[in-house]
This record gives sequence, C-alpha cells and structure tokens, in this order.
Amino acid sequence: MEETNKQELEQMRHQLKQQEKLASLGMLSAGIAHEIQNPLNFVINFSKLSGKLLDDLARLVKDNEDRFSADDREEVEDILADLQENLQKISEHGERAVDIIRGILLISRGKEGERLPTDIPRLVKEYVWLAYHAMRANHKDFNVAISEHYPEQMKPVMVIPQDISRAVLNTMNNACYTVWHKSTMSEDYAPTIDITVSVDADEFTIAIRDNGEGMTEETRRRLFDNFYTTKPVGQGTGLGMGIIRDIIENKHGGTIGVDSVEGEGTTITMKIPIRK
Ligand SMILES: Nc1ncnc2c1ncn2[C@@H]1O[C@H](COP(=O)(O)OP(=O)(O)OP(=O)(O)O)[C@@H](O)[C@H]1O
Ligand SMILES: [Mg+2]
Repeated sequence: MEETNKQELEQMRHQLKQQEKLASLGMLSAGIAHEIQNPLNFVINFSKLSGKLLDDLARLVKDNEDRFSADDREEVEDILADLQENLQKISEHGERAVDIIRGILLISRGKEGERLPTDIPRLVKEYVWLAYHAMRANHKDFNVAISEHYPEQMKPVMVIPQDISRAVLNTMNNACYTVWHKSTMSEDYAPTIDITVSVDADEFTIAIRDNGEGMTEETRRRLFDNFYTTKPVGQGTGLGMGIIRDIIENKHGGTIGVDSVEGEGTTITMKIPIRK
C-alpha cells in the first residue's frame, strides 16, 4: 500500500514538473510571438504604403510618357510592375506570418479555437511547403522529392484551421527531419515524402509517408509523451506529437495511425470525422 502511494506521489511530482515546463514554454513562445508581431506590422504597413507611392509614380510616368524613348518607357514599366509584384508578395507573406503568430498566441493563451469551413487540400498544401522551405532554410543541403495527392473535389469542412495546420506542420517537420538525417548518413538514398488527402461521406484523411529512419520500439511506445525526443538539444522539444494528438483526438474527435518500420520509414495517418 505504502509502496503504491509513494509511486503515485512520484508520478504526480513528475507530471507537475512536466506541466511547469509546458507552461513556461507557452509563456516564452507567447512572449516571442508578441514581440515579433510589432515589427511585422511595420513590414506589412510600409509595403502597402510603398505600393501606393508606386501607383503615384506609375501615374507620373504615364503622364510624361512622351519624354521617354520607347525602349526606356518599356523598361520603366517593367520595373514598376516587378516592384508592385514584390511588394504584394511582401505583404502577402507578412500576413501569413501574422496568422502563424496569432495561432501561437491562441494556443498559448489556451483559447478555444473556432471551427470554420476549411479547404483542406489547400491548407495541407500550404503547410507542407512551409515545412519544406523552413527545412531548406536551416539545412542548405536538404532535398526531398515530395509527391502530393489531393481529391479532385472536396467541399470545405468544419475544422479549427489553425489547429489542423499545426498538425500538418508538425508531422511534416518530423518527416523532413528524418529524411534529412538519413540522407546525411547514407550515400545513395533518395528521400521521398508522400502526402495524400482523401475524403468520403463522413470522414477525411491526411496521410504523410516518409522513407526516413522509421522508429525504434521505444520511440513508438513513447511517441506521444511530452518532451520525448531523440533529436539533439535545440532541434526538438518533444512536444510535436503530443500537440498533434490533442488536436486530432481531443479537439476533432479523430484518430491518429502510426505505421513505422525501423530503417524504412513512417506513415502518419490522421482521420477526422466530418461534422455536419
Ligand atoms: N516521421 C518520423 N520518423 C521517425 N521518427 C519520428 C517521426 N516522427 C517522430 N519521430 C520520433 O518521435 C520523436 C517525438 O516526436 P515529436 O514530434 O513529438 O518531437 P520532436 O520532433 O522530437 O520535437 P518537436 O516536434 O517538439 O520539435 C522524435 O524525436 C523522433 O524520434
Ligand atoms: Mg516534431
């Protein structure tokens, strides 16, 4: 009896410690997200402002077009068009960063996300490539063949979009990491990641398959434990899969399938019921 009490106490102490770590991590990321939001607003606002100035400039050029030779005029117009396009990209991607930051702030403040009609294939595609580019930014030598399979037509479904995107991002990050890590160790290895979205009457599925390192028995067992990671310090916090489980199972009433063969690869399958 006494022994089990001791064990329970020990376990509670352990859980408490984990929760403390989680809470301070949440506060840290909320703090960072908040600090980034301000300069990001400057970036977006100044690019919009510059867009307006560019419109004025284009008008001025047009009013004085007889002062230019035909060649010069064409060049000026091309440059103006390019600049306009660049500015648009800056604000578009800036807005996306704002969305991501909002997502972080929402999760760390523990606010309940709202279900919204969501174009799943589009969302999946966006976050698949976001993960890919993030990986490329960190590891210049990173490369992978990504193949994507989306349903021809899929009606929007009611999900919490920032949550589903986080689940896709975390899964993709794991897949990118493992194929990258494997590629640093074996010569003739062709990293591939395969993404499949499918849908039927009452559920949809997002499956992400990699031909990376696969999981050991221990990893498979502890996969969803918070802070369980096999990555070096600074590369993984071990929170990804726990967050995914919370999102898919608790918030969306779905299931996560893990199919992994050590040395060969892993498939993570997320099935989510469609709420009518
Ligand atoms: N696709 C995968 N292939 C092989 N191992 C994986 C894969 N996905 C996860 N793992 C293993 O599971 C562990 C836990 O994954 P999880 O996403 O929870 O944490 P992490 O990736 O280590 O860190 P974080 O996601 O917080 O940055 C990883 O460290 C890795 O060992
Ligand atoms: Mg991860």
